[in-house]
Amino acid sequence: MSRRMLIAGNWKMNGQLSDLGYFSNLPEQVSTPDAEIIVCPPFPLLPASIEAAKTSFIVIGAQDCHGASSGAHTGDVSARLLAVLGVQYVIVGHSERRADHGETDAMIRSKAEAAIEAGLIPIICVGETLEQRQAGQAVEVVAAQLAGSVPKTGEYVVAYEPVWAIGTGLVAELEDIAQMHDEIRSRLTRGETTRILYGGSVKPDNCHALMLLDDVDGALVGGASLKAQSFAEIIKNTLG
Ligand code: PGA
Repeated sequence: MSRRMLIAGNWKMNGQLSDLGYFSNLPEQVSTPDAEIIVCPPFPLLPASIEAAKTSFIVIGAQDCHGASSGAHTGDVSARLLAVLGVQYVIVGHSERRADHGETDAMIRSKAEAAIEAGLIPIICVGETLEQRQAGQAVEVVAAQLAGSVPKTGEYVVAYEPVWAIGTGLVAELEDIAQMHDEIRSRLTRGETTRILYGGSVKPDNCHALMLLDDVDGALVGGASLKAQSFAEIIKNTLG
């Protein structure tokens, strides 16, 4: 079963309106029908990013949404509003949100369900901490996150991001990534068709080897997606 590759750039709390020339700086030559390329800027930049990316091969995603469709949730953003803007994907349950905002698996599942209901594709993040890996609990932790945060129906993407590999320059061993992706796939209802991304210090020089792994269907890229040139290199090296 072939799954379409997906490479997603997560800008986190970075980027300015004046940076949106980014989209015209991503050369059209790196695009291919074999891969979907997503960029997830912060909320206030979404409308302008959608406009700036309109004529490019880039699809715009968001970094979070609320589990409810509207209501008294100050500071939150509904998946429905994101969909109306033209957003197509939304990251949910990133480890930084689990840590900074105390997000639980149940909250993440409701966000993912709200996203699907609104017509978006959620990218559901899971991953263990260094202590959990060293204690031999990585698979158990990720399995529990999946059981608690993955919706029963609808299309979603899973991103495996070991917390200790995010923003640190450390990358998990290829063997460990392969094993975890296999474990994740075996636990998903529609494992054969669900795309599973790897994230955590993905860079132009390591992405090719990562993407050759059988069950790795793409990457969630933080730091290296901030500059159009390095993101373009990742796209090129991943597919090349
Ligand atoms: P990084 O971030 O590529 O900077 O490690 C990945 C992520 O947090 O999605």
